[in-house]
Amino acid sequence: MKIQFFTQDQAQELQNQNITHFVFLLHGKEMSESLQKIDQELDGQIQHALDYSNMEGKFAESICVFGNEIYQKITLLSLGEKSLKSSQFGQIGGHIAQHVFKDEKAAIFLPSQDKYQDLDIPNLIAQGVSLGSWRFMKYKTEENHKPSQLKALYMEAGDLDKSQKNYQLISSITEGTNVARDLVSEPGNQLYPESFKDRALELESLGCEVKVFDYEALKAKGMNAIVSVGQGSKQKPYMVVIKWKGDETKDPLALVGKGVTFDTGGISIKPSAGMEDMIFDMGGAASVFGVMKSLALRKSKSHVIGILGLAENMPSSSATRPGDVITAYSGKTVEIMNTDAEGRLVMADCITYAQKDEHAKQIIDLATLTGAMLVALGTERAGLFTNDEDWAKSLFDAGEETGDLLWHFPVGSEYDSHIKTRHADIKNTGKGRYGGAISAAKFLEAFVEEGTKWAHLDIAPTAWLYENKMPYVKGASGFGVRLLNQWIMEHYEE
Ligand code: BES
Ligand code: ZN
Ligand code: ZN
Repeated sequence: MKIQFFTQDQAQELQNQNITHFVFLLHGKEMSESLQKIDQELDGQIQHALDYSNMEGKFAESICVFGNEIYQKITLLSLGEKSLKSSQFGQIGGHIAQHVFKDEKAAIFLPSQDKYQDLDIPNLIAQGVSLGSWRFMKYKTEENHKPSQLKALYMEAGDLDKSQKNYQLISSITEGTNVARDLVSEPGNQLYPESFKDRALELESLGCEVKVFDYEALKAKGMNAIVSVGQGSKQKPYMVVIKWKGDETKDPLALVGKGVTFDTGGISIKPSAGMEDMIFDMGGAASVFGVMKSLALRKSKSHVIGILGLAENMPSSSATRPGDVITAYSGKTVEIMNTDAEGRLVMADCITYAQKDEHAKQIIDLATLTGAMLVALGTERAGLFTNDEDWAKSLFDAGEETGDLLWHFPVGSEYDSHIKTRHADIKNTGKGRYGGAISAAKFLEAFVEEGTKWAHLDIAPTAWLYENKMPYVKGASGFGVRLLNQWIMEHYEE
C-alpha cells in the first residue's frame, strides 16, 4: 500500500484521484472546518447524520454516510472527548483499515485543531491502517477470499515535512511486524527449523550477517538442551544468529527468540484439542526476526544480535524421555521432568551462547513460554521478568507507548525452590500448577551470568489473538516488534 501525505491546502486536489472512501476523524462529534465545507456541498447530510444517528462521540465510534459522485462513501470516526495516548492512534488506524478494506483508494482527514504537537499522528494512524489490513491469505485459493484492496492511502498531515521524514522509519517497523505475523501463521509442515533458517538467510541481502548452527554443530558445541528438544523430530533443530551492526562501537544487545515450530509436547504429549494452535510456538523467534528486519530496513544505529532457537518438539523413539538428565551448554545439568516444558530448554542454550560466544551483557528474550502466563494475564498483556529495575520501567513504558502491553512479575530468590530437583542441578518444571510462569522465568535466569542485564518477555498470551485487538486483527500479532523497536530507538540510537 502506497501512502501519500497531504496538507489541508492540498485537500481540494484529492477530488481528482478517484478516491472512493473519505474518512473524517472527529473530536467527539465536532465537525472540522474541512468537513463543514464538504457538508455544505452535500446539503447538510453530514450534520443531519450526526444529529440523528446514535453516535455519542466515544472513542472509535463511527457512522457511514453516502455522499455524492465525488464523496461516494464518507466515514465519520470519533476519537472520543479525551486526550489520546499514542497507541490509540494506531488503534484508530486499525479500525479505519476495516472500513476501507474493499476500497482501492481512501483518504483520511484529521480533526480540527491538532493538540498533539509532539506525536506524529499521521504516521501512527497510517501504521495502524497497514497493520489492520494484514491478513494471512497464502493458502486460500478460492476467488471469494480477497485481501485488503487498498492500494493508495491519502493521509492528512499537519506537519508534512515531519511525517514524510518519519515515514521510512515507521514503515520499516510495520513491515517487520507483518513479516513476523506471516511467519507465525505458517503451519508446521511449511515452516520448520530448516525452512525458518532459509528465511533468516534472506536477511543477508539487507545487510545482516547470518550464522547458522545445524544439528551436528549444536551437538559438537555441547548445546544439549536445544538438541534434546529437537532430537525426536525428523526436522532437526537449528540455531540461527542474525547480526545487525549499525553501530559496532555500542555494546551488543542480544535478542533471543523461542522458535519451536510445532509443539506437540513430545513424550509428555499435549491433549489433541487445540493442539493446532501450537504452530505459533515460534512467535518469539518470529518477533526477533521481525525486529532484525526492521533494524536493517531503517538502518538503525544500533548493534543487535538476534538469536533464534529453532526446534520441533515431537514424540518418537529418539525423543527425550521424562526423567532424562542432560548437560546444557552452560555446564548445568537439567532433569527433564516434562518434555512439554521444552521452550525453556531451547532458550537456555541460546542465552548461554549470547554470553559465552557473543559476549553480550544485555539480553532480552521473547518466548511463548507458558500456559500459566495466559492464566495470570488473560490475552491483554504479556509478562515481563527482569533482573534490572531500570529495564523493568523502560520496557513497561515502551509497551504502553506502542500498545504492546506488558506487566511486571517477580523473579526473586524467594522462588529459588521452584526449580530444585532430585538428580540434577535444576529441573525444567516448577511447583505443580502454582506460579508456573515464574518457575519458567527462574529456569531461564539460571543461565544468566552475574553482570548480565536480562529481561524475559513471556508472550504466550499475546502472540496469537483469538479476537481483533486493534490495530492487530485476530491471528498472529507480531507482538514485540513495535515494542522492541521503540525501546531500541530510545536506548541505543540517541
Ligand atoms: N508452548 C507451551 C506454552 C503455551 C501454552 C503457549 C499455550 C501458548 C499457549 C509450552 O511449551 C508449554 O507447553 N508449557 C507447559 C509447561 C509445563 C509442562 C510445565 C505449560 O505451560 O503447560
Ligand atoms: Zn511445550
Ligand atoms: Zn512450547
